[in-house]
Amino acid sequence: MSPARKGWESGSTNQMAYTVPKLEDYSPAALDSAVHELLSALRQEADAVRSENEWKEFRDRWMARKNGILTQINDLWLKAAPGPSKREAGARVNQLKSEAEHIIDSAQQRASGSAAQMRTDLERLDITLPGIRRTLGAEHPVMKTMHEIVSVFRAMGYSVAEGPEVETDYYNFESLNFPPNHPARDTQDTIFIAGQEKKQQRDRLLLRTHTSPVQIRVMEKQPPPVRVVIPGKVHRADTADATHSPVFHQVEGLAVDTNITFSDLKGTLDHAMKSLFGSSVKTRFYPSFFPFTEPSADVQITCFKCGGKGCRLCKMSGWIELLGCGMVDPNVFGFVEHNGYDANKVSGFAFGMGVERITMLKYGIDDIQLFYQGDVRFLEQFM
Ligand code: DAH
Repeated sequence: MSPARKGWESGSTNQMAYTVPKLEDYSPAALDSAVHELLSALRQEADAVRSENEWKEFRDRWMARKNGILTQINDLWLKAAPGPSKREAGARVNQLKSEAEHIIDSAQQRASGSAAQMRTDLERLDITLPGIRRTLGAEHPVMKTMHEIVSVFRAMGYSVAEGPEVETDYYNFESLNFPPNHPARDTQDTIFIAGQEKKQQRDRLLLRTHTSPVQIRVMEKQPPPVRVVIPGKVHRADTADATHSPVFHQVEGLAVDTNITFSDLKGTLDHAMKSLFGSSVKTRFYPSFFPFTEPSADVQITCFKCGGKGCRLCKMSGWIELLGCGMVDPNVFGFVEHNGYDANKVSGFAFGMGVERITMLKYGIDDIQLFYQGDVRFLEQFM
């Protein structure tokens, strides 16, 4: 075996390299199988060719005029064929040669193609560039607080409900005891959907200004008792500034059962505020007004920064206002009376809080706009 042959073998598969057999049998079947064996050996070697140098070696082994495999066939298969078989053998050898040339040509194209590809890949690869680091994402601080609030109430046995952001006048106002033209509507600067003048007022669409409409939607679906929290996005026609955003988030709550009293409301919210802000905060309930609760209150907590002494955060009052609440107004039950909400038999409380405001207080953030700017340097502080 010549040294060149040895090199070829170690560069390709471990199988024994193909050598041209002498033919004993010149029957058409025997010829076919010899041709088949040769072509499959050729294809296998062609597949292993990776570079132009390898291809040249490969081509010479098969096509070299002196002692290439295709030349050997002339001697071993054609010239050695007995007279009557010469035609059969000749036809096959011709066909085989053109097939072999085709296989060898395509191997060259593949080899030079992949070499060129490798060159351009190398040119494109700038190994001096810094690597790409993919940092892990994190929950947005507003969502984090929202989930925290929801889980405080879930631990007390509340379920969770959601409702649509595009709401009707009926659910957002009327059924919450804001009659048409009632001045309380002015406290919620509303974004209305245009072009609905032909509809009755109660069917007109708007972007919900609070999550309270979902109270009614829940009571329409489910007879009492109810204990539910409702997280969601709300919209107001407010100009953005350090404390206002036209889009923000609320968590609403509703509990209805027999014998629910204002003490239940106080105990529930006191517990929730301690869970959210620390067990040392105290709560107080300050008289307020909402059309859908009677009586209504604002909940304030002792300033967790100064402990109630008075500081910049609590505007020197020692108290921070956090949310609205109250006992469900009997007029509200009137809208869902058909589903078991008889104001003479059941009572309930409701509350609603702004998630951005609570997040700002918890983390000492002084500009609500920071939540919406997507600045990673701000957001990654809440990982
Ligand atoms: N929906 C009120 C608002 O957005 C907040 C609120 C106050 C919700 C009192 C309540 C409640 O459920 O009882 O201003």
